[in-house]
Amino acid sequence: MLALAVAATLALASSALAETTITAAPSPSQVAKAKRAETSPQPLTDYSYSYGQQPYQVNPYNVGRGPQSGYNICNSTTSGSDAQCQTLVANNASDFCLWGSPTTDATGTIGDIEAAVVAYCTTDKWGARVLPEGAITGLQVMHTSEYIQWTGHINMTALNLVADDTGGELDPHGADQLGNPLGGIVFSTGLPSAVGGDNSTMQQVISWNNFVGSGVFCMKFCGPISSPNYCENRFDLIGCEYNMPAAYEDGVFNECDGDLQDVVGTYTGTDGKTSTWSQPESLAADSTLPWTPRVPSSSNCRTYSSADLFPASLLGYQTSSGAASTTSSASSMSTGSAASSRSGSSSKGASATGDSSAAAQKTSGSTSGAAHVVVSGGVLAFAGALVAALV
Ligand SMILES: *[C@@H]1O[C@H](CO)[C@@H](O)[C@H](O)[C@H]1NC(C)=O
Ligand SMILES: *[C@@H]1O[C@H](CO)[C@@H](O)[C@H](O)[C@H]1NC(C)=O
Ligand SMILES: *[C@@H]1O[C@H](CO)[C@@H](O)[C@H](O)[C@H]1NC(C)=O
Ligand SMILES: *[C@@H]1O[C@H](CO)[C@@H](O)[C@H](O)[C@H]1NC(C)=O
Repeated sequence: MLALAVAATLALASSALAETTITAAPSPSQVAKAKRAETSPQPLTDYSYSYGQQPYQVNPYNVGRGPQSGYNICNSTTSGSDAQCQTLVANNASDFCLWGSPTTDATGTIGDIEAAVVAYCTTDKWGARVLPEGAITGLQVMHTSEYIQWTGHINMTALNLVADDTGGELDPHGADQLGNPLGGIVFSTGLPSAVGGDNSTMQQVISWNNFVGSGVFCMKFCGPISSPNYCENRFDLIGCEYNMPAAYEDGVFNECDGDLQDVVGTYTGTDGKTSTWSQPESLAADSTLPWTPRVPSSSNCRTYSSADLFPASLLGYQTSSGAASTTSSASSMSTGSAASSRSGSSSKGASATGDSSAAAQKTSGSTSGAAHVVVSGGVLAFAGALVAALV
């Protein structure tokens, strides 16, 4: 039996050998391309996989900021409070992950650790970390014809981020196009039907962004070619309120169908004229932006309780019994302030070859005033909400 198998293998090998001799030799440029692929990464958005077919690491290359810190094959063995899973899955209101700190204590800011963030999920089924009960205190999932979006309020400590981190943007680009996190890939069943989403088939999401900071998060997934682009990665200084205008109600959990947002930076002034705004290199503490974002209307909202969406039974290994919801005016005031450290795609200062943490520090330092811009927008929004409540 064994001898036979060996003979069969040899026969196969020699026929394969015979075949290669008649195959045209690769051209010098093909050889050069293959050599490059062995030693250095392509832009992160060039890698596409079916869910389950992704490699252990999308970016194992010891080049520039690489290799990536974690891994892309995540399963029941990797799930736990120290998981380094860099494959993020987000499907609907009860089943999603957000990027958070790779550390096991809440000592970092997004600006410090953006290259190395890992997935924190509402269930243990994705082989990642699991958000503790009560971590998400408000949530809205919005299904639109061009994107799906998650917005809400979160206890920053649950993502192992310092509570007063004003945040930053994570996306698959960065100055070197290798992504934040490096090698981080995203899958969803929830993309719009126009790009093949059907709420059951897992698709890789190539165009996405996620902000987290000051107790607020937002995350948006677009189809591969969205024109206009609702998932722009250029507005990393102006936070959730401008990048993903939504209700941001703390203590409310719902999933809706919604109209489309304005493309970020495009707005209609009081004179009725449409203008576009480009993000400058930095924003001074007292800057005000020339517009207030329009929150698109929503319909068909299904409202849940925190316990409906995140029952302890789904939390797997981690079942702390915290309060399910903490509504406070203080967290409403921080609406939209998730982003002030310059990170992600437009990290002008982030060097493709330099040390990532030094680059992150340098860039977040250079724009430390931006929080105030966004916070003042948030205060205005809060004041508006108060007036509405009084009438
Ligand atoms: C589980 O994930 C780990 C880490 O990525 C990997 O080494 C291992 O092969 C995986 N196990 C299975 C059964 O896929
Ligand atoms: C989310 O999808 C899962 C299946 O992937 C389903 O079990 C769950 O009920 C859905 N949650 C909501 C809120 O629709
Ligand atoms: C956030 O979570 C931490 C750890 O679970 C907890 O100690 C803290 O009280 C929470 N903060 C708020 C505002 O709920
Ligand atoms: C997926 O389900 C949600 C409701 O949970 C719905 O609003 C949305 O339109 C569905 N998407 C597709 C592509 O069917």
